[in-house]
Amino acid sequence: MSVEWNSFFSRRTRNITGSQIRQFFALTEKPEVISFAGGFPDNELFPREEISNSLFHLAREDSTQALQYSPTEGNFELRKVLGEKMSRDGKLCEADSLIITDGSQQGLDLLGRILINSGDPVLVEEPAYIGGMSAFKSYGGTTVGIEMDDEGPVPSSMEQAIRKHTCEDRRPKIFYTVPNFQNPTGITTSLKRRFEILAIASRYNLAIIEDNPYGDLYYDQDVPLSYKALDREDRVIYLGSYSKILIPGIRIGWLAGPAPIIEKVSMAKQTADLCSSSLGQQLAYRLSREGNVERHIGRLRKLYRQKRDAMLSAMDRHFPAGIEYTRPGGGFFIWVTFPSYYPSSKELLDLAIQQNVAFVHGEGFSSNGGGLRSARFSFSQPSSEDIEFGIKLLSEIFWEVESNCTVKVAGRHF
Ligand SMILES: Cc1ncc(COP(=O)(O)O)c(C=O)c1O
Repeated sequence: MSVEWNSFFSRRTRNITGSQIRQFFALTEKPEVISFAGGFPDNELFPREEISNSLFHLAREDSTQALQYSPTEGNFELRKVLGEKMSRDGKLCEADSLIITDGSQQGLDLLGRILINSGDPVLVEEPAYIGGMSAFKSYGGTTVGIEMDDEGPVPSSMEQAIRKHTCEDRRPKIFYTVPNFQNPTGITTSLKRRFEILAIASRYNLAIIEDNPYGDLYYDQDVPLSYKALDREDRVIYLGSYSKILIPGIRIGWLAGPAPIIEKVSMAKQTADLCSSSLGQQLAYRLSREGNVERHIGRLRKLYRQKRDAMLSAMDRHFPAGIEYTRPGGGFFIWVTFPSYYPSSKELLDLAIQQNVAFVHGEGFSSNGGGLRSARFSFSQPSSEDIEFGIKLLSEIFWEVESNCTVKVAGRHF
């Protein structure tokens, strides 16, 4: 008799469900597919030479720190460098108020672990980053979507959600946001909006989790001051990451927050992994200290800008006029919205895959059953030539949809 493993899982584990993005990993590996699906950095842009030189030195000269366990909070020098880096976003952060995590994803998971009780509502953007929502849901949180417009989360939608849940005796206490070049929409929250959201957070005593993996990757103008920098009440927990600005393979991110949060996150991290990769931390430290990371970010801005421009230009030239899309000033993502008479974006994706082009359909990013006619397009991985080719192929599908709709409408009316 084989074991019925489902009966072994804890109630909490039953909240963990797969991400629709995972199914694209295998797909994007296929060389014949032009993928706008994954949110990965471009493999071709990794600073291999600098990494190889640093690793050589680390293994020989600095081997003890790089090869041994490190403190749970992370290497002190790296935390100091990161604290100084944050001062460029408007907020100098002491090394003590910062902890190294295994990517910002671990920061999200640890925050879920220490802050969320089963059934707690968690305010998120609508649409929102799937990995953030999954982390909160895995601890029993239920996500409540806050409507977004071009300037970011809409304050009236936020207040309405807070009041509604408070009346039901489920006062939300957390708002999770990706304010710069948001995943999945590419929207950047304006400075004015940041002030408004902070005022609401203050009025209703919310903690803000500010997740900022893309802020350094701006292609037009620098991003507004961070929530962390604007915060006068110590209610913002900030997450940063080396994944998009250096490499994701070292799994190094950081969390900056008030002392009680750092203390609890550190305790939770101890049971999760004892410490983040010492080798990864040393590599990140060396490359940051020597200015390689900043130089690399400068190169990335230039190269990703070309890809962003290639995708927007191809959409402008090839897409039917009824399709709307965001025009992000940085990051990796464009959010596409199809007209209401189109089939669902899931059905469009099925057609696209037959042509060896992929994107992510929108439902997975939504907390309220939305996203049916939306999709996330990422321009980070394919070359500019593939972007042009892939968008053109997709446009043929969309024009075909348009002509079928015209025939149907014509059929009904005449
Ligand atoms: C908004 C957002 N937060 C967090 C992450 C996780 O990144 P990391 O590699 O730092 O764990 C991602 C990755 O795509 C992301 O887009």
